Amino acid sequence: MKEGIGQRYHKETKYTPESISGMALDWSQKPPLYKDYSEARMIGLPKPQATETPPFGELLLGRRSVRNFTRKALSLSELSFLLWASNGIRQQQRGHEFRTVPSAGALYPIETYVVANNVEEVSPGIYHYSIRAHGLEEVRAGNYGEEFAQAALGQDMCQEAPVIIVWTAVFQRSRWKYHERAYRYIYLDAGHIGQNLALAACSLELGSCQVGALFDDYMNELIGLQGDEESVIYLSVVGHPR
Ligand SMILES: Cc1cc2nc3c(=O)[nH]c(=O)nc-3n(C[C@H](O)[C@H](O)[C@H](O)COP(=O)(O)O)c2cc1C
Repeated sequence: MKEGIGQRYHKETKYTPESISGMALDWSQKPPLYKDYSEARMIGLPKPQATETPPFGELLLGRRSVRNFTRKALSLSELSFLLWASNGIRQQQRGHEFRTVPSAGALYPIETYVVANNVEEVSPGIYHYSIRAHGLEEVRAGNYGEEFAQAALGQDMCQEAPVIIVWTAVFQRSRWKYHERAYRYIYLDAGHIGQNLALAACSLELGSCQVGALFDDYMNELIGLQGDEESVIYLSVVGHPR
């Protein structure tokens, strides 16, 4: 069978004693770890409250992909906890911020956007999660659920769910250090974030479904991204299970 791009990628990005010798970092080229929409209107999120969770084993047993939701809105405190648990800051230490998820080289290449379809105290629209400020920066106001459903290959749950969490990758943040191997780590990072979100949702008796089926260009366009330097890679819908 002809070697495909996937096979070639894995072969050509293997670490071997030879390939890692002489690797050096140009610290002057290190990209910023955060993206800001500094001109945007900011909605502050309440301090994330660690909830009284069921035992961890029960959370694992309760997690499943939920694709049908009631019409009940998500509260701002629920959204706050979900964002913090999936990609928020848990600790500041000697000028570095560490998140609730692991990340290769602590480079945190994943940005979080929120499509608010039905969230208390938040008008419908697309927001960027400001990690440092723990707030929402308004990117575009309006009802975009239907368009996100179309951009997710017609998956109606994107319209029905009160919220869609959209994750993008800022490739250079990892590529700066790991070069082409960075793509492996970026997708692993996104997996950790998705799982934290799924378990955090369970802990609030909410349901979620992780979504990888998307028209990349369409979804990037909705968020206002060119798609080369930063691109949507993964999303989750969250709401009250029906
Ligand atoms: C990377 C990834 C992409 C996925 N994409 C979709 C998707 O586009 N649509 C969907 O309905 N489910 C999607 N799922 C959910 C899987 O279908 C689901 O996890 C699987 O069927 C196992 O069921 P469970 O999550 O209920 O245990 C995705 C899951 C992962 C991890």
